[in-house]
Amino acid sequence: MKKELRNIVILTGAGISAESGLKTFRASDGLWEGHRIEDVATPEAYERNPDLVNEFYNARRAQLKEVEPNAAHFALAKLEENWPFDVLIVTQNVDDLHERAGSKNLIHMHGELLKSRCTETQLVTDWHQDILPDTISPYSKEGTLRPHIVWFGEMPLEMGRIYDALRKCDLFISIGTSGNVYPAAGFAQEARRKGAHCVELNLEPSLNAHDFHESVNGLAGEIVPKFVEGLLAS
Ligand code: OAD
Repeated sequence: MKKELRNIVILTGAGISAESGLKTFRASDGLWEGHRIEDVATPEAYERNPDLVNEFYNARRAQLKEVEPNAAHFALAKLEENWPFDVLIVTQNVDDLHERAGSKNLIHMHGELLKSRCTETQLVTDWHQDILPDTISPYSKEGTLRPHIVWFGEMPLEMGRIYDALRKCDLFISIGTSGNVYPAAGFAQEARRKGAHCVELNLEPSLNAHDFHESVNGLAGEIVPKFVEGLLAS
């Protein structure tokens, strides 16, 4: 790394939460917590069977109470606190483990389990209970509430802010993501095109491993704290 590193953007995926006890999406059985993705994570699935989709996310929301952030989440919060320039985490995860570890500058591009959205007004609100198909929206007469999750075919959130940060960053770090889902899988290429040094920290090489200048393979709970210590000492 030759140039001075100032602003950092970090993309995280399901792999960073794996050691906390949350399953990744692309397990070897091809199922996500026993379901095919198209049965629980598309707008069509929700139209077809809102009970099943709500139950699925109700279970994911309840599961959050049983898990804790791990060493990788804490290391990223420490980096943000001690780095003299901007550190932005863009997470594809819908859990709240980054917040609970202390990260503040955070974008949930695929939504959040602990929020719901009004089906009429699209207003988003904090939501910690179950959502049932007839849960009345506090924001409109007609609307009900749906999980605040970006399903396949829907637009990820805050893309303007994310691309702006990618274009301005000097270091881009991708952690625990397989590189299967765009636009997130294209972030390394975008940051690299604008001159950022790109690093991948993942259990195994991702699909877009060739977009990175540097790769470290291993458990996030081990390799992320080590990488952060190196950065803070540099
Ligand atoms: P995936 O399940 O596709 O990939 C997880 C990655 O983490 C894999 O490359 C694993 O090798 C790696 N991994 C597993 N355990 C790890 C550990 N302990 N330490 C480090 N790495 C580990 O999950 P994502 O890439 O996050 O979207 O999936 C992207 C999106 O696809 C998700 O946000 C979700 C999903 O469908 C929506 O729901 C919209």
